[in-house]
Amino acid sequence: MTENEATVAAVDWEAYEQEFEGALKQVTSLEDLEKLRVEYLGRKSALAQVLRDVRDRETGMQLNALRARLQAGVDSNAGRLQAEALERELREEQLDVTLPGEHIPRGNYHLLTQIRREVEDIFLGLGYQVVDGDEVEDAWHLFDALNMPPHHVTRSPLHTLFLNGDVVLRTETSPSQIRVMEATPPPVYMVSLGRTYRRETPDATHSPLFHQVEGLAVDHGITLGDLKGTLLHFARALFGDERDVRFGTDFFPFTEPSMQASVSCFLCGGAGCRVCKESGWIELGGSGLVDPNVLRNVGYDPEEVSGFAFGIGLERIAMLRHGVPDLRMFWDNDLRFIRQF
Ligand code: DAH
Repeated sequence: MTENEATVAAVDWEAYEQEFEGALKQVTSLEDLEKLRVEYLGRKSALAQVLRDVRDRETGMQLNALRARLQAGVDSNAGRLQAEALERELREEQLDVTLPGEHIPRGNYHLLTQIRREVEDIFLGLGYQVVDGDEVEDAWHLFDALNMPPHHVTRSPLHTLFLNGDVVLRTETSPSQIRVMEATPPPVYMVSLGRTYRRETPDATHSPLFHQVEGLAVDHGITLGDLKGTLLHFARALFGDERDVRFGTDFFPFTEPSMQASVSCFLCGGAGCRVCKESGWIELGGSGLVDPNVLRNVGYDPEEVSGFAFGIGLERIAMLRHGVPDLRMFWDNDLRFIRQF
C-alpha cells in the first residue's frame, strides 16, 4: 500500500458525500453555500488533496465522479438560492404606487403675512400700486419732509432708534409717501406695507417692532369724501359688509385736517361690548388730507393737486379681527398659535 492509497482509504467517501448532501440541504444563503463548497471541494478539502496525488485510474475516476456530483449539487443550489434572493428582494423592495403617500404637513402663512396680502389685494383692486419702503431711513424722509418741526417728540432717541447720526429705523411707514412722490409726478395712488420700529418695552399692546400699511392718493380734486369712501371700502373688505366708518378729529404734522378713523364694532354691531370698550366703535388708525407743506416738500403744487393719506397698524387689524389678546404672540413662534390661522 502506497502512502496515497492509505490516504484514499482513510476517508470514507460515501460518508463524505452524505455529509455534504446533508449540509447542502441546510444551506439557506449563497454565503453558506460558498463555505460548504470550500470545505468539500476547495483546494484544502480532503477530496482536492487526495485527487492531487491519485495515481491509479480506477480511484481517480471514482473521485472525479464524486467531485462532479458535489459540484453539480453546488451549482444547482446556487441557482436556487439566487432565484430566492431575487424573489425576496423583489418582494421586500416592491413599490406600490397605489398606496397612500407619506403625509407631509402643509405650512401656512403667518397671520400677519395673510393680513398684509389681504390688504395689498384690497388696494390692488382699487388700482393702487404696492411699493416697498425702506426700514432704514434718513431724517429728511422720516421727519422733515413730513412737516415735523425740529422739536417733535419722535426725534428724541427716547422714542426712536437712531442708528447713526441722521440714520434711523423708521417709526412709521409714512416716509414711503415722500419717496414715491419724490420719484414720480402726480397722480399717485399707492400703499406701502412693512415693518416699523419704536423704542418700546414689549407688553400686550406695545412692541419695538410692528407693521403698518401706509396709503396715499394724490390727484386733481381729491377730497375728504374720497378718503372716507376709500376707508369705508377697506373696513368692509376686512371686517364685513355691514360695517360703518366714522371719523374723529386728530392731529398729525403731515395732514390737515387730520382724522382718526374708526370702524363700527364687528362683535356687537355697535351696541357696545368688551372689544369696543362699550363705545360701539373701534379705532382703525390715523388719516387726513395731505398737508400742503408736504406736497411742496416733494415739489408738488398744492394749488394743482390735493391728496389724502392714512396709516394703520397690521397687528391691530389682526388682533381685532381674530381676538388675539397679546401682541407678543405674533413673535413667540408658538406653532399652536400660528397654526390656528
Ligand atoms: N404715521 C401715523 C402713525 O404712525 C399714521 C398716519 C396718520 C399715517 C395719518 C398717515 C396719515 O399717512 O395721513 O401713527
